[in-house]
Amino acid sequence: MRELPWPAKVYFVVLNAAAVALVVESAVTPGWFDQAELPTLIVLALLFLVCESVPTVLNVPQAAISVSFSAALAAVVLVGPEGAALVGLMAVISVRPGLPVVKRLFNGAQFVICGYAAGVAFELAGGTVGLPREDDFPGVIVPYGAATAAFVLINFALTAIILLLAEGVGKDQVPLRGTVQILGSYLGYATFGLLIAGLWATVQSISAVLVLIPLFVARWAFGHYHAQQRSYEATIAALCQAVETKDYYTRGHCTRVSRASSMIAEEIGMGTERLRAIRYAGMLHDVGKLGVPTKVLQKDGKLTEEEFAAIQLHPMRGLEIVHGIDFLDEAFAGIMHHHERQDGKGYPMGLAGDEIPEFARIIAVADAFDSMTSDRAYRKAKSIEEAVAELRKGAGTQFDPVMVNTFIKALDRHGWEPPRAVSAPPEPAVAAAKDHDDPTMPIQVISER
Ligand SMILES: [Fe+2]
Repeated sequence: MRELPWPAKVYFVVLNAAAVALVVESAVTPGWFDQAELPTLIVLALLFLVCESVPTVLNVPQAAISVSFSAALAAVVLVGPEGAALVGLMAVISVRPGLPVVKRLFNGAQFVICGYAAGVAFELAGGTVGLPREDDFPGVIVPYGAATAAFVLINFALTAIILLLAEGVGKDQVPLRGTVQILGSYLGYATFGLLIAGLWATVQSISAVLVLIPLFVARWAFGHYHAQQRSYEATIAALCQAVETKDYYTRGHCTRVSRASSMIAEEIGMGTERLRAIRYAGMLHDVGKLGVPTKVLQKDGKLTEEEFAAIQLHPMRGLEIVHGIDFLDEAFAGIMHHHERQDGKGYPMGLAGDEIPEFARIIAVADAFDSMTSDRAYRKAKSIEEAVAELRKGAGTQFDPVMVNTFIKALDRHGWEPPRAVSAPPEPAVAAAKDHDDPTMPIQVISER
């Protein structure tokens, strides 16, 4: 709270004052509440509390949606605007260890205001508060839709205002794709809210359990999925680090190749799963360097044919190292063929043109670009313009011209942050004498015959 600018603090106080006024008004307004509805109100409040205590983490930074939205909307139908406001107040005491008091108060105020407004919208659109009867359907869907829209819009507006007033705290953290994902989730949770209200007439509070069990199972499964994704990322990061310890000058190369490959993949419109696979492939493309003797990588001057063969084998070695990791899937093709050339003069298979898998054609461009724009032991980094000129020069012979053009377009759109200049390596020097990825300085080989 202390780090918030004063307009955000004023907004926070006003929001909380409005919520307190609504809660007091709801508690003292005579007539809206029937003693018989008390058990319903208590069960809904408990249900909301349980749901609010286990937010569903979406794959969007800083965004967590909880099933409590369903409970809040069910309250709108069953106990009206005043009841929904009182139920929303439970957000303040949710069991979420570590959640700051300021955030709790903000969440509570948001739920009180949104719940009340949704209740008013429900009634204005012709909805009747109370247990829905059989003949209320499908007519109740229209007022329920109005209540959902009011809830979501006001919730978005209240959040957007605090982000704006906080001058960038958390701004830009939910990209458009994330917003669509959140809106889709709201729609799904809203449907569950109506189901709870609809079933209440026949099975009372058990309706909440019946509807929410599948939701909690889904949440549990998603939790596992996210944990699995995190362990994949950690595995890949560990392998990358192992590769980069072989050469002082290639620190960060895997990550940058991964980023450049993803830029090309996004530009050509790859789907989410393939985007993830190419990201992994970019990270691991040189994992086979673990199988190349360090003394060969660090050898100064010309290599013997045998030594050069050891370098040319690194894509195969890479495949051998990671072939048991089944989540890599299409990434295997990128690792295996990232040194093939359009003219068929690459390695390890000498594939040409479209015979080369798409992942490998993308990584080849990203790999050469990052190598050229980074410092190496034997030369300084080239500028982005020089590297792009080299890519154009190699288009059609070394690189797929479509991928080169796509990358240039992506560079125009997103820009590129080249790595910082590398100072001299600490002794003993761990630095490769030549970079096999550098298209401007081919490795010199001496014939043994
Ligand atoms: Fe390589």
